[in-house]
Amino acid sequence: MTDTSVSGRRILLGVSGGVAAYKSVYLARRLGDAGAEVRVVMTETATQFVGTQTFAAVTGVEPVVSLFDDARSVSPHTDLARWPELVVVAPATAATLSRLAHGLSEDALSATLLATTAPIVLAPAMHTEMWDHPATQRSVSLLVADGHELVGPDEGHLAGGDVGAGRMVEPEQIVAAIEQSLAAGFDLAGVDVLVTAGGTREAIDPVRYLGNRSSGKMGHTVATVAARRGANVTLVTTSSLPAPGCEVVKVESAQEMAKAVSAVSCEVAVMAAAVADFRPANASDDKLARTEGPPKIVLEPTPDILSSVVAREDPPLVVGFAAETGGVERAVEKAKRKKVDLMVYNDVTAAGSGFGTDTNQVVFIDADGGTRPQELMSKTEVAQMLWTDVHHMLVQD
Ligand code: C5P
Repeated sequence: MTDTSVSGRRILLGVSGGVAAYKSVYLARRLGDAGAEVRVVMTETATQFVGTQTFAAVTGVEPVVSLFDDARSVSPHTDLARWPELVVVAPATAATLSRLAHGLSEDALSATLLATTAPIVLAPAMHTEMWDHPATQRSVSLLVADGHELVGPDEGHLAGGDVGAGRMVEPEQIVAAIEQSLAAGFDLAGVDVLVTAGGTREAIDPVRYLGNRSSGKMGHTVATVAARRGANVTLVTTSSLPAPGCEVVKVESAQEMAKAVSAVSCEVAVMAAAVADFRPANASDDKLARTEGPPKIVLEPTPDILSSVVAREDPPLVVGFAAETGGVERAVEKAKRKKVDLMVYNDVTAAGSGFGTDTNQVVFIDADGGTRPQELMSKTEVAQMLWTDVHHMLVQD
C-alpha cells in the first residue's frame, strides 16, 4: 500500500512553545481538510502562544496539555502514544528536540513522544544561535540516527525582527513531509518478515563462551524500521536492545537461533546476525579450572542458518549481511554462493562502520554480483534503503 494521502489517517500534532505555533493552527486545519483525524498535544509554554480553544475549535478535540487533566485515563501519554499513525511536532523547539534526543519525559508532549512507536516528523523552529549551537546540532544528529525525520528549518524572519536560519517551514511543506513519511511507512503492510540479529555465543563451559563483537544494532534497526513500515516482524536475536513493534525471540547460540528460525515462516528473511561458524564440540558441564591448565577446545561447524532458509521448499526473499575486513570481493563471492537476493557488505574496520556504531558504510550487492557502494550513513538510513530495495523486489515478483 503506497497511499500518499493523509485522508483517514490518525495524526497527532505536537505543539511546543514558539511563536511559529500560530502556523500549526493552519497545519491542523490543512490536515483536517484533507480528511485526517487530528489530535493535539501541547506544552504549557505553547499555550502562551496559542490557546487550547483555538486547536479544539479546529480539530474538534480538546488538546492534551498535562498528564493529569484527563480523568478518563489512568495513563494518558501511553493512550495518546498508541493512537496515531504518525506524530508531527510543529514547532519543535530546541528544548523539545533535546528532550526527545536524550529520552527526557517531562510533560505530556515529551512523554508521548517517548512512548510512541509511530514515525515522528519534526519541524524545528528557533533562533539561529540556538539552531547553530553544538548542543542542538548534537540532538539533531541523535534524532536522525534514531530514525526521526526533520523538515526544515528554513532561513527567514524570526521572532523579535531577527532574520536567519531557524524559521519553521510552511505548513504545506510539513504536509508534504507527512505524506512522504506515511507512504514509506506502509509499503510493507502485512508482509511477514524474519530478521536475525546479534552475535551468537557458543558455550565453552557454563561461564565462558566463544563470541564476536556484533552488538545487534544493525539487525534491531532493520527489524524496527520494517515494523514501522507495516511489516509483521519476528526478530530472532541474541541482543537485549529494544525492538518496538517486533515479536522478539531471544536466543544465545547458533543452534538455538537455527531452531527458532526454522519455526518462522516468512516472505522476507534478513539475516543480520553474526553467527559463529564454529562452536566447541564438547562444552564442559562444569566450569573449567585454571589449575587444570589450558584446555584443548575442539571446534565443530555450526548450522548455516541462511542456507537452510534459502533451501526451503518455498524460500522467502533472502537478504544476507557480510561483515568483512578486506575488500568487497569476498562478499560478492559469498552473495553468489549463498544465493541471496541481496547482500549488504560492510567493512568492519572502516571508520564509523560496523560493530557497536550508529553509522555504517555499506555496499549493496545484487544477486548477479552487481555492487552499489553507499556513503557513510546512519544504520536507520541503511535499513530504510534496504527495505525500499526489498519492497521493489516484492512488487516486481
Ligand atoms: O558470517 P558470514 O559473513 O559468512 O555471514 C554471511 C551471512 O550468513 C549473514 O547474513 C549471516 O547472518 C548468515 N549466516 C548464517 N548462519 C551461519 C553463518 C552465517 O545464517 N552459520
